[in-house]
Amino acid sequence: MTEQKATNVTWHDHTVTKEERAKLKGHKGAVLWFTGLSACGKSTIANTVDHLLHSMGKHTYILDGDNIRMGLNKNLKFSAEDRAENIRRIGEVAKLFAESGTITLTAFISPYRADRDKVRAIMQPGEFIEIFVDASLETCEKRDPKGLYKKARAGEIKGFTGIDDPYEAPEKPELVLDSNNKGIDALAQEVVDYLKKVGVVS
Ligand code: ADX
Repeated sequence: MTEQKATNVTWHDHTVTKEERAKLKGHKGAVLWFTGLSACGKSTIANTVDHLLHSMGKHTYILDGDNIRMGLNKNLKFSAEDRAENIRRIGEVAKLFAESGTITLTAFISPYRADRDKVRAIMQPGEFIEIFVDASLETCEKRDPKGLYKKARAGEIKGFTGIDDPYEAPEKPELVLDSNNKGIDALAQEVVDYLKKVGVVS
């Protein structure tokens, strides 16, 4: 648990409730938490889902690994501690977005189960939807769009997820996307179908 350091702070309940915000938007807020190895397809699928939902008139927003690491989390590296802090901050931000009634898509490797579970724990039941983008290391290494696996294999990047740093796959994700065998559009549609099934969107 991250320690509460600030004292003399008081929680304020806001007058517009989460339910009222959802009513105005016509759908609930939620966090779609995409997790998986680098190059498994997280960002690309999240982007396609974002477009699909947007074209259906839904309010969405994406928090994406590399982008957030160039702003809010630019002071974090890739040690287990820094990855935990990365995910903690993203989780808190995603929660705020979801409370605003936005369907929030996050695309982070988020390799540690405990870090993802902590995010789940700060959300209401049903609001945190964990989506495991399942692509084998072999598939990801073959894709290697940024040439990072090659660098990691050559020892130019240390502690690269899947090579010399762990990835802990979710044990009970809400959704598993088979990114080894299926294309982006089919997988994005699976996400939208799931959101309809559980009533996040109609
Ligand atoms: S996480 O592990 O803390 O969730 P995050 O998703 O924010 O990672 O960032 C992953 C991205 O950072 C990768 O897609 C890759 O482009 C880049 N990266 C740079 N170094 C590493 C590393 N050591 N391990 C994994 N990804 C890295």
